[in-house]
Amino acid sequence: MSGEAVSEAALMRLFEAARWAPSSGNFQPWRFIYATADGPHFAQLFDLLVEGNRAWCTHAGALIVVLSRNAFDNGKPARTHSYDAGAAWMSMALEGHWMGLVVHGMAGFNFDRARTELGVPDDYTVEAMVAVGHPGSVEDLSEKDRAREGKSSRRPVRKSVFEGRFPAA
Ligand SMILES: Cc1cc2nc3c(=O)[nH]c(=O)nc-3n(C[C@H](O)[C@H](O)[C@H](O)COP(=O)(O)O)c2cc1C
Repeated sequence: MSGEAVSEAALMRLFEAARWAPSSGNFQPWRFIYATADGPHFAQLFDLLVEGNRAWCTHAGALIVVLSRNAFDNGKPARTHSYDAGAAWMSMALEGHWMGLVVHGMAGFNFDRARTELGVPDDYTVEAMVAVGHPGSVEDLSEKDRAREGKSSRRPVRKSVFEGRFPAA
């Protein structure tokens, strides 16, 4: 990322895209805690990241913590809370892509500290973090991160898709 600021308006456009994700019973379990690079909370969110992510997140325009509410008001578990929050994050990522932004999911951070330091209640699950920014120059990355910039691969679709039942081992 380049270090160029991500405006509040651009961020809100991402959250608006997330807002329209489908969810079971329209429960909309997703919640987001964000910090812009020029705002007062960035250092706190940045500090949650593992070293490897800090390396390439120094020039992020914003960091986001994705949460999901894991129980209904009556205490019953909301089974698809993570699935629904995943749909919301993907909506956000696609919107950001159309806007020419980098929107990069992260599991490399301290989940427990995120919960305590950001005051996340027990009925919310800490799902992931997201870095948002304007694309920068690949040369500014570490050698290790530069090597990851090529096209990534996926296993063939037939290895993820089974007709009728799960295949025997
Ligand atoms: C939930 C989630 C967590 C991720 N965690 C990290 C992370 O901590 N650090 C990182 O550099 N990339 C992280 N990634 C990015 C993945 O490694 C990346 O999406 C995957 O390797 C496929 O590459 P592509 O998205 O460029 O096609 C994460 C992605 C997702 C969806």
